[in-house]
Amino acid sequence: MLRRARPEDADELAVILRTAMHGAMPSLPKLHTPDEDRRFLRDAVLPNQEVWVAEVDGRPVGFAALGSRDEADYLQHIYIAPEFQGRGLGTELIDRAKTRRPSGFRLWVFQKNDGARRFYEKHGLQVVELTDGSANDEREPDALYEWVP
Ligand SMILES: CC(C)(COP(=O)(O)OP(=O)(O)OC[C@H]1O[C@@H](n2cnc3c(N)ncnc32)[C@H](O)[C@@H]1OP(=O)(O)O)[C@@H](O)C(=O)NCCC(=O)NCCS
Repeated sequence: MLRRARPEDADELAVILRTAMHGAMPSLPKLHTPDEDRRFLRDAVLPNQEVWVAEVDGRPVGFAALGSRDEADYLQHIYIAPEFQGRGLGTELIDRAKTRRPSGFRLWVFQKNDGARRFYEKHGLQVVELTDGSANDEREPDALYEWVP
């Protein structure tokens, strides 16, 4: 089940972000503390982005965040808690992104994140740019993907 996020989801979504990202890319430097992740969700993501939560048994187990204003055509985040991956919840979220951004959207993913890249390609997204990572905080080569209807 998908629903719009509420301010009180911040702490649970921060844990999902952290465990899903580090599960997918254990070698990625941990640049932020759990407290910083919580503040990021509470003060930056939830008030400013269109956030959809995937729930199982009334508990958030994943989320996707679409940008707004000048970043409206970006899917900024999509994370499913590790123990709930591979059950179709990510597919529900990406389908919701397509419904909410019917003229298309873009997203950044680290090049080494093979699982996520397979997932995006399966859903029709295509690479439009590869970088050497010098512009991101982690200094990790990334890829810009695009979905066009
Ligand atoms: C990528 C992600 C959002 C996909 O959500 P999901 O609920 O696991 O995906 P679904 O169950 O809808 O679809 C599964 C498909 O995704 C792909 N996939 C995603 N992660 C995978 C992994 N770790 N290993 C293998 N395949 C993976 C496969 O192609 C799989 O297809 P299959 O069922 O035919 O094998 C989720 O796995 C996740 O949160 N990953 C870790 C965090 C992350 O990398 N987020 C993206 C940051 S840009």
